[in-house]
Amino acid sequence: MSPTVYHILHVLSLLALYGGTFYAFAAPAETRKATLALTGVASLLMLISGFGLLAKLQLGFPVWVIVKLVCWLGLSALGGIGYRRRGAIGALKGTAFGLAAIAVVMVYTKPF
Ligand code: HEM
Repeated sequence: MSPTVYHILHVLSLLALYGGTFYAFAAPAETRKATLALTGVASLLMLISGFGLLAKLQLGFPVWVIVKLVCWLGLSALGGIGYRRRGAIGALKGTAFGLAAIAVVMVYTKPF
């Protein structure tokens, strides 16, 4: 597969994970299973496409990727937390934005 396919998959799964996570913050409890299935699949596709890109673009395994992995792990957990901690939605929204922002800055600046 070409790197473009991985790029598209990476960004589309990011949109699904991010959208699903924010939906989880406001959705009724009975949507939990379906929403977490969506964010789970999106999260897995993000990881696969991320490693696919690393290999195709021959980037090695730099530190900025480790930072992105931490952001990915955090973002992937937020939907499930959102269903259980309704009182913390404000903080969870800020965390989701912050993690995505750090990951995007990492990939476009590649500081280390
Ligand atoms: C919250 C998590 C993440 C976000 C928000 C994110 C976001 C992005 C964005 C916006 C791009 C640029 C796409 C483009 O220019 O077409 C990108 C590219 C990339 N991402 Fe991620 N990503 C995340 C997680 C990961 C993870 C976990 C990995 C590795 C396993 C990874 C590896 C890569 C690689 C290798 C590229 C290509 C870099 C390049 O073109 O020079 N990303 N990511």
